[in-house]
Amino acid sequence: MKKVRVKSPSNIAFIKFWGKKDSSLNIPFNSSISMNLSGCYTVTSVEFDEKLREDLIKIDGKIVEGEKKDRVVRFLDIVRKKAGKKIFARVDSKNNFPSDAGIASSASAFSALSLAASKAIGLSLSEKELSILARRGSGSASRSVNDGFSEWVAGTSDKTSYSKSIAKPTFWDLRDLVTVVSNKAKKSSSTEGHSVATTSPFFATRQKNIKSRIKNLKRFLLSKNFEKFGQLLEEEAIELHVMAMTSKPAIYYWNEGTVEVMSTIRALREEGTLCYYTMDAGPNVHVICLGKDEKKIMSRLKRLKSVIKIIPNEASRGTGELK
Ligand code: DP6
Repeated sequence: MKKVRVKSPSNIAFIKFWGKKDSSLNIPFNSSISMNLSGCYTVTSVEFDEKLREDLIKIDGKIVEGEKKDRVVRFLDIVRKKAGKKIFARVDSKNNFPSDAGIASSASAFSALSLAASKAIGLSLSEKELSILARRGSGSASRSVNDGFSEWVAGTSDKTSYSKSIAKPTFWDLRDLVTVVSNKAKKSSSTEGHSVATTSPFFATRQKNIKSRIKNLKRFLLSKNFEKFGQLLEEEAIELHVMAMTSKPAIYYWNEGTVEVMSTIRALREEGTLCYYTMDAGPNVHVICLGKDEKKIMSRLKRLKSVIKIIPNEASRGTGELK
C-alpha cells in the first residue's frame, strides 16, 4: 500500500472551543473561529503494512508508547473501521516547532494524520469529511483542515460538527507572533480543561453571549475592522482564562511572562500601535497584529526578559498532501 505524506498547520483560535457537549465525539458547546499558522506545522507520513503486528508511532524522531501512542491508535481504529480494513500502520510525525515549546500541536498533528491515514488506507474523503475525522482526534484539528480562516460550526452530531473556510489565507495581512514565555509542558491539558468547563460559574453567561460574539467577530474579520476585531478577540481570550481559573478544580495557565507580554501589548496600544493578545490553554501569548507593524512589535517583545523566542506566522493554507 502506498505511503502518504501530509503537511498541516496549527491554528490560533480567535473564538475558543472550551467545553464538550459530547466528549467521545468532541462535539463542542459552541462554534469557534481560527486562523491557520504558516510557521507552526506538522509533517506526517503514514503507511499501512500487512506485515505489521501493531501500529508503530514515531513523533519527532522517537517511538512513542503509553497514552500518547494509545491516542493515535484509537484514532487509527476509527480510520480502519471507516475503511473496513484490519491492518496496522507506520506513522512518522514531525513538528517544525519544538514540541517542548508549549505550543499546541494536537491541531496540526491530528489534521495531518487524518489526511495521511485516510488516503494511505484507500479512502478519498471530502474536505467536510476530513474535518469531521480530524475533530475525532482533537477538536481544534477540525479547523486546520481548511484554508486560511476557519469556522467550526458546533453542530449537534458527528455529521453536523465540522469546519469550513470563511476567508482565504491572502484575505487579510494578519500576523500571529507566537511569543514563547515557557518551554515546559503544561500541567493541565486542554482535554482536562474541557472536562471541567461547565463547573465555572461563568459557563452559563458564556453560553448566553457567545452567539452574538461569534457573529460580531466574524463581521469585524470579514470587514477587516482590526480595532474592533482585536478588542473582541482579547475579550474572548480573557473569558476563556477566567473560566479556567474559576472551574473546579481551578486551572491556571498563565505565568509571569504571560502577564509581562500582555502589559507590553497594552503599552504599545497606548503609544498608537494596534496589537492584541490571545492565549490558548497555555502560558504562551499569541500577539495578533497587521503585517505593517510586525517588525516594530517583534523588536519590542524580544527585549522582554521573559521572552524565550518568537515565531512569526501569517495565515496559511490548510491540510495538504506533499507529493
Ligand atoms: C483553548 O482541541 O486541544 O486551544 O479536543 O481535547 O484535543 P481536545 O482539545 P483541543 O482544545 C483546544 C482548546 C483551546 C481553544 C481552541 O483551540 O479553540
